[in-house]
Amino acid sequence: MSDLFDPITVGNYTLKNRVFMAPLTRSRADENGVPKKIVAEYYGQRASAGLIIAEATAISQQTMGWLNAPGIFTDEQQASWANIADAVHAEDGRIFVQIWHMGGAVHPDFVNGDQPVSSSSVKLTGAMSTPKGPDKDLVEPRPLSKPEIKAIVQDFVGAARRAVDAGLDGVEIHAANGFLLDQFIRDGVNQRDDEYGGTIENRMRFMVEVIEAVVAEIGSGKVGIRLSPTNKFWGISDTTPSETFGKVVEKLNEYNLAYVHLLEPLPGTNHFIETIGFLTPEIRAKYTGTLLVNGGYDKETGNAAIENGEADAVVYGANFIANPDLVARYKLDAELAAADQSRFYTEGAEGYSDYPALAVEYA
Ligand SMILES: Cc1cc2nc3c(=O)[nH]c(=O)nc-3n(C[C@H](O)[C@H](O)[C@H](O)COP(=O)(O)O)c2cc1C
Repeated sequence: MSDLFDPITVGNYTLKNRVFMAPLTRSRADENGVPKKIVAEYYGQRASAGLIIAEATAISQQTMGWLNAPGIFTDEQQASWANIADAVHAEDGRIFVQIWHMGGAVHPDFVNGDQPVSSSSVKLTGAMSTPKGPDKDLVEPRPLSKPEIKAIVQDFVGAARRAVDAGLDGVEIHAANGFLLDQFIRDGVNQRDDEYGGTIENRMRFMVEVIEAVVAEIGSGKVGIRLSPTNKFWGISDTTPSETFGKVVEKLNEYNLAYVHLLEPLPGTNHFIETIGFLTPEIRAKYTGTLLVNGGYDKETGNAAIENGEADAVVYGANFIANPDLVARYKLDAELAAADQSRFYTEGAEGYSDYPALAVEYA
């Protein structure tokens, strides 16, 4: 029987365990989206994870919409990602990076007053801290034209190419959490009447085009994707999530991807992510490849998910923030440190790279 500590083959890689690190925005890049030096140290400290999925990272200037989040579309950004890859590989780890377009969640303050882009003109609910002030309401986006969609597909390809050239092990396409690709998939936002709207097949077309183009560029064994079928980030919704995401993963079966990563909080966990249900078992039944699960898991529930076949590996977010040696702590049943939320998006080492590993020797 497999558990969290068994190796697993994911895409091109044999990984040493099934305790993976979730993508976590930590806002430690400079104003040009270049990850600061400390970011390499932070990821290096966490290299005992079977796989690190590095934080959401902008694929173009148009989507630089989160204070101090990184990008991967300039030479300078790529060079910093190369240092990060080196730091993780020096500790025998593996690292993918999550590539990201925020769509309608980009506040105009970030982009010289430009209107954000989305599937349609449906405004997302929520506010964003911008260079001009905290908690500014999002604005109505404009629908992307078809040539613009094709250009963004190429931005994903460019980011994936740079990731691999930087020595990162692969990319995770961010199709979750109400960001651009999700703004096409879910019908609460997508009101288009062209081939990118209406039926589920049409709504997932943009995502499929991104997958196909990125796979053609770097190979399917270096490409994962994240979905969040049931959460309500930015007020996003779908009238038939089970059918929609069932169809999405059936389509994804065609691509031999490294993995599909589901963000769906485990029922009963006290979680900050509001959801409308738990589709993981249904999706597991429909997806034939490697499935990662995330959201409120601990060692016990993670092992149970692997044992009952619901997941191939388990992804941990908050626990990796405060426990760089989470794998060892799980192995030893050691106490876990709690993450300091007030430091999630601040500058510097405090609450970032200063969480200590256990002061014991372990094998
Ligand atoms: C500080 C913070 C930053 C996050 N940033 C991202 C991100 O960049 N991309 C993403 O897909 N999810 C992001 N998430 C969600 C996490 O990846 C994960 O889904 C969430 O923490 C639930 O997992 P957990 O219960 O193990 O913490 C973030 C969560 C937190 C707490």
